[in-house]
Amino acid sequence: MSRFRSPGVRERCFREHFDRNALARDDLRTADYSNAASYGLRQAVVSRWLSGLVGLRIADIGCGNGLLTTDLAKTNRVFGVDLALGMVRLAGGRGLLGAQARAAQLPLRGESCDVTLVVELAQYLPHLEDLITEIVRITHPGGRIIFSCLHRSLARRMWSTLKPAGPLNPYLHSPRSVQRILAAGGVRVIESCVWFQPLRVRSTSRLGRCLGQLAGSAFAVMGIRES
Ligand SMILES: C[S@@+](CC[C@H](N)C(=O)[O-])C[C@H]1O[C@@H](n2cnc3c(N)ncnc32)[C@H](O)[C@@H]1O
Repeated sequence: MSRFRSPGVRERCFREHFDRNALARDDLRTADYSNAASYGLRQAVVSRWLSGLVGLRIADIGCGNGLLTTDLAKTNRVFGVDLALGMVRLAGGRGLLGAQARAAQLPLRGESCDVTLVVELAQYLPHLEDLITEIVRITHPGGRIIFSCLHRSLARRMWSTLKPAGPLNPYLHSPRSVQRILAAGGVRVIESCVWFQPLRVRSTSRLGRCLGQLAGSAFAVMGIRES
Protein backbone atom coordinates (compact mmCIF):
# COMPACT_ATOMS: atom_id res chain seq x y z
CA MET A 1 0.00 0.00 0.00
CA SER A 2 1.45 3.35 -1.02
CA ARG A 3 0.56 5.73 1.76
CA PHE A 4 1.41 9.26 0.87
CA ARG A 5 0.06 10.03 -2.61
CA SER A 6 -2.72 12.54 -3.27
CA PRO A 7 -5.43 12.63 -0.56
CA GLY A 8 -8.08 10.91 -2.73
CA VAL A 9 -5.76 8.09 -3.83
CA ARG A 10 -4.46 7.66 -0.31
CA GLU A 11 -7.97 7.44 1.10
CA ARG A 12 -8.95 4.83 -1.50
CA CYS A 13 -5.81 2.80 -0.68
CA PHE A 14 -6.69 2.81 3.04
CA ARG A 15 -10.31 1.86 2.37
CA GLU A 16 -9.29 -1.05 0.14
CA HIS A 17 -6.60 -2.10 2.59
CA PHE A 18 -9.01 -2.22 5.54
CA ASP A 19 -11.72 -3.88 3.44
CA ARG A 20 -9.24 -6.62 2.57
CA ASN A 21 -8.27 -6.81 6.25
CA ALA A 22 -11.92 -7.21 7.24
CA LEU A 23 -12.40 -10.00 4.69
CA ALA A 24 -9.17 -11.76 5.59
CA ARG A 25 -9.58 -11.87 9.34
CA ASP A 26 -11.97 -10.38 11.80
CA ASP A 27 -9.19 -9.42 14.16
CA LEU A 28 -7.57 -6.00 14.34
CA ARG A 29 -5.62 -7.22 17.32
CA THR A 30 -3.12 -8.43 14.74
CA ALA A 31 -3.23 -5.53 12.26
CA ASP A 32 -0.27 -5.16 9.92
CA TYR A 33 1.66 -2.72 12.13
CA SER A 34 0.58 -3.98 15.51
CA ASN A 35 -0.05 -7.12 17.53
CA ALA A 36 -2.38 -8.52 20.15
CA ALA A 37 -0.37 -7.00 23.01
CA SER A 38 -0.71 -3.51 21.53
CA TYR A 39 -4.43 -4.01 21.12
CA GLY A 40 -4.71 -5.07 24.77
CA LEU A 41 -3.05 -1.80 25.83
CA ARG A 42 -5.55 0.28 23.82
CA GLN A 43 -8.40 -1.74 25.25
CA ALA A 44 -7.09 -1.19 28.79
CA VAL A 45 -7.13 2.60 28.33
CA VAL A 46 -10.66 2.55 26.93
CA SER A 47 -11.83 0.34 29.79
CA ARG A 48 -10.18 2.53 32.41
CA TRP A 49 -11.89 5.69 31.20
CA LEU A 50 -15.21 4.29 29.99
CA SER A 51 -16.18 1.09 31.77
CA GLY A 52 -19.49 1.00 33.62
CA LEU A 53 -21.30 3.46 31.33
CA VAL A 54 -25.01 2.79 30.83
CA GLY A 55 -27.64 4.36 28.58
CA LEU A 56 -25.32 6.78 26.78
CA ARG A 57 -24.84 7.64 23.10
CA ILE A 58 -21.28 6.76 22.18
CA ALA A 59 -19.53 7.40 18.85
CA ASP A 60 -16.60 5.17 17.92
CA ILE A 61 -14.96 6.91 14.95
CA GLY A 62 -12.72 4.66 12.84
CA CYS A 63 -14.27 1.80 14.77
CA GLY A 64 -12.69 -0.95 12.67
CA ASN A 65 -14.30 -4.27 13.52
CA GLY A 66 -15.84 -2.82 16.68
CA LEU A 67 -13.86 -4.92 19.14
CA LEU A 68 -12.89 -1.94 21.31
CA THR A 69 -16.49 -0.90 22.04
CA THR A 70 -18.27 -4.26 21.92
CA ASP A 71 -18.73 -4.32 25.71
CA LEU A 72 -19.97 -0.72 25.78
CA ALA A 73 -22.52 -1.59 23.08
CA LYS A 74 -24.20 -4.01 25.51
CA THR A 75 -25.39 -1.17 27.76
CA ASN A 76 -25.22 1.91 25.50
CA ARG A 77 -26.02 2.92 21.91
CA VAL A 78 -22.68 2.84 20.13
CA PHE A 79 -22.45 4.41 16.66
CA GLY A 80 -19.54 2.89 14.80
CA VAL A 81 -18.26 4.91 11.84
CA ASP A 82 -15.62 3.60 9.46
CA LEU A 83 -14.45 4.25 5.92
CA ALA A 84 -14.28 0.53 5.09
CA LEU A 85 -17.65 -1.14 4.53
CA GLY A 86 -16.20 -4.52 5.51
CA MET A 87 -15.29 -3.10 8.92
CA VAL A 88 -18.72 -1.49 9.34
CA ARG A 89 -20.33 -4.90 8.76
CA LEU A 90 -18.10 -6.58 11.32
CA ALA A 91 -18.85 -3.83 13.86
CA GLY A 92 -22.58 -4.25 13.15
CA GLY A 93 -22.24 -7.93 13.99
CA ARG A 94 -20.88 -6.90 17.40
CA GLY A 95 -23.87 -4.74 18.29
CA LEU A 96 -22.63 -1.33 17.08
CA LEU A 97 -24.89 0.81 14.88
CA GLY A 98 -22.56 1.01 11.91
CA ALA A 99 -22.23 3.62 9.17
CA GLN A 100 -19.71 3.89 6.35
CA ALA A 101 -18.41 7.47 6.25
CA ARG A 102 -15.33 9.68 6.33
CA ALA A 103 -14.22 10.81 9.76
CA ALA A 104 -14.04 14.39 8.51
CA GLN A 105 -17.76 14.34 7.49
CA LEU A 106 -19.56 12.34 10.12
CA PRO A 107 -23.21 11.41 9.55
CA LEU A 108 -24.09 12.43 13.12
CA ARG A 109 -25.95 15.52 14.29
CA GLY A 110 -24.19 18.24 16.29
CA GLU A 111 -24.00 17.57 20.05
CA SER A 112 -25.66 14.17 19.59
CA CYS A 113 -23.12 12.02 21.48
CA ASP A 114 -22.27 11.76 25.18
CA VAL A 115 -18.93 10.13 24.49
CA THR A 116 -16.77 10.29 21.36
CA LEU A 117 -13.90 7.91 20.88
CA VAL A 118 -11.18 8.08 18.20
CA VAL A 119 -8.58 5.36 18.53
CA GLU A 120 -5.75 4.69 16.05
CA LEU A 121 -7.38 6.71 13.27
CA ALA A 122 -5.48 10.01 13.15
CA GLN A 123 -2.41 8.43 11.54
CA TYR A 124 -4.44 7.97 8.32
CA LEU A 125 -5.70 11.55 8.06
CA PRO A 126 -3.74 14.55 6.74
CA HIS A 127 -5.67 17.18 8.73
CA LEU A 128 -5.75 16.64 12.48
CA GLU A 129 -7.62 19.92 13.07
CA ASP A 130 -10.49 18.83 10.78
CA LEU A 131 -10.84 15.54 12.63
CA ILE A 132 -10.86 17.22 16.04
CA THR A 133 -13.32 19.91 14.90
CA GLU A 134 -15.68 17.16 13.75
CA ILE A 135 -15.48 15.10 16.94
CA VAL A 136 -16.02 18.19 19.08
CA ARG A 137 -19.03 19.13 16.91
CA ILE A 138 -20.84 15.83 17.52
CA THR A 139 -20.08 15.72 21.27
CA HIS A 140 -22.64 17.11 23.69
CA PRO A 141 -21.40 19.84 26.09
CA GLY A 142 -20.26 18.01 29.20
CA GLY A 143 -19.56 14.89 27.13
CA ARG A 144 -16.29 13.03 27.04
CA ILE A 145 -13.78 12.81 24.20
CA ILE A 146 -11.12 10.11 24.06
CA PHE A 147 -8.37 10.50 21.48
CA SER A 148 -5.59 7.99 21.00
CA CYS A 149 -2.91 7.42 18.34
CA LEU A 150 0.70 6.48 17.73
CA HIS A 151 3.29 8.80 19.30
CA ARG A 152 5.26 11.02 16.90
CA SER A 153 8.38 11.86 18.89
CA LEU A 154 9.27 8.31 19.74
CA ALA A 155 8.54 7.12 16.21
CA ARG A 156 10.85 9.84 14.85
CA ARG A 157 13.62 8.75 17.16
CA MET A 158 13.08 5.16 16.10
CA TRP A 159 13.26 6.05 12.38
CA SER A 160 16.43 8.07 12.77
CA THR A 161 18.09 5.27 14.74
CA LEU A 162 16.87 2.19 12.87
CA LYS A 163 16.45 3.66 9.38
CA PRO A 164 13.72 1.19 8.38
CA ALA A 165 12.65 0.78 4.74
CA GLY A 166 9.95 3.28 3.77
CA PRO A 167 9.19 6.79 5.03
CA LEU A 168 7.98 7.70 8.49
CA ASN A 169 4.25 8.37 8.47
CA PRO A 170 3.93 12.19 8.49
CA TYR A 171 0.53 12.06 10.21
CA LEU A 172 1.74 11.10 13.65
CA HIS A 173 1.15 13.42 16.58
CA SER A 174 2.26 14.16 20.12
CA PRO A 175 0.05 14.43 23.23
CA ARG A 176 0.94 18.12 23.38
CA SER A 177 -0.22 18.93 19.82
CA VAL A 178 -3.47 17.02 20.31
CA GLN A 179 -4.11 18.70 23.67
CA ARG A 180 -3.50 22.12 22.15
CA ILE A 181 -6.02 21.57 19.33
CA LEU A 182 -8.56 20.06 21.70
CA ALA A 183 -8.21 23.03 24.05
CA ALA A 184 -8.63 25.47 21.13
CA GLY A 185 -11.85 23.62 20.27
CA GLY A 186 -13.26 24.08 23.77
CA VAL A 187 -12.25 20.75 25.30
CA ARG A 188 -10.87 20.69 28.86
CA VAL A 189 -8.22 17.99 29.03
CA ILE A 190 -8.61 15.88 32.17
CA GLU A 191 -6.01 13.17 31.77
CA SER A 192 -3.50 11.77 29.33
CA CYS A 193 -1.15 8.83 29.23
CA VAL A 194 1.63 7.39 27.09
CA TRP A 195 2.45 3.71 26.76
CA PHE A 196 4.93 1.47 25.10
CA GLN A 197 3.45 -0.22 22.04
CA PRO A 198 5.50 -2.72 20.04
CA LEU A 199 5.41 -2.02 16.30
CA ARG A 200 6.08 -4.22 13.32
CA VAL A 201 8.70 -2.32 11.38
CA ARG A 202 9.62 -3.15 7.79
CA SER A 203 13.36 -2.86 8.19
CA THR A 204 16.03 -4.14 5.84
CA SER A 205 17.91 -5.56 8.80
CA ARG A 206 16.87 -8.21 11.29
CA LEU A 207 18.17 -6.00 14.09
CA GLY A 208 15.94 -3.15 12.88
CA ARG A 209 12.88 -5.39 12.89
CA CYS A 210 13.69 -6.66 16.39
CA LEU A 211 14.29 -3.18 17.78
CA GLY A 212 11.00 -2.00 16.27
CA GLN A 213 9.33 -4.37 18.67
CA LEU A 214 10.86 -2.36 21.48
CA ALA A 215 10.65 1.18 20.22
CA GLY A 216 7.05 2.09 19.42
CA SER A 217 4.67 3.95 21.68
CA ALA A 218 1.22 5.49 21.69
CA PHE A 219 -0.76 7.94 23.78
CA ALA A 220 -4.31 8.78 24.74
CA VAL A 221 -5.96 11.98 25.91
CA MET A 222 -9.31 12.25 27.68
CA GLY A 223 -11.20 15.55 27.91
CA ILE A 224 -14.62 17.08 28.48
CA ARG A 225 -16.31 19.28 25.92
CA GLU A 226 -17.22 22.52 27.65
CA SER A 227 -20.43 24.30 26.70
C1 LIG B 1 -6.03 0.76 12.85
S1 LIG B 1 -7.76 0.66 12.64
C2 LIG B 1 -8.32 1.08 14.29
C3 LIG B 1 -9.62 0.41 14.66
C4 LIG B 1 -10.04 0.59 16.09
N1 LIG B 1 -10.32 1.98 16.39
C5 LIG B 1 -8.98 0.05 17.04
O1 LIG B 1 -8.25 0.85 17.65
O2 LIG B 1 -8.87 -1.19 17.17
C6 LIG B 1 -8.13 2.15 11.73
C7 LIG B 1 -9.53 2.18 11.17
O3 LIG B 1 -9.76 3.50 10.66
C8 LIG B 1 -10.49 3.39 9.45
N2 LIG B 1 -10.28 4.60 8.65
C9 LIG B 1 -9.17 4.95 7.95
N3 LIG B 1 -9.36 6.15 7.37
C10 LIG B 1 -10.60 6.57 7.72
C11 LIG B 1 -11.36 7.75 7.45
N4 LIG B 1 -10.88 8.75 6.68
N5 LIG B 1 -12.60 7.86 7.99
C12 LIG B 1 -13.11 6.86 8.77
N6 LIG B 1 -12.43 5.72 9.06
C13 LIG B 1 -11.19 5.58 8.55
C14 LIG B 1 -9.97 2.13 8.81
O4 LIG B 1 -10.88 1.60 7.85
C15 LIG B 1 -9.75 1.21 10.01
O5 LIG B 1 -10.86 0.39 10.26
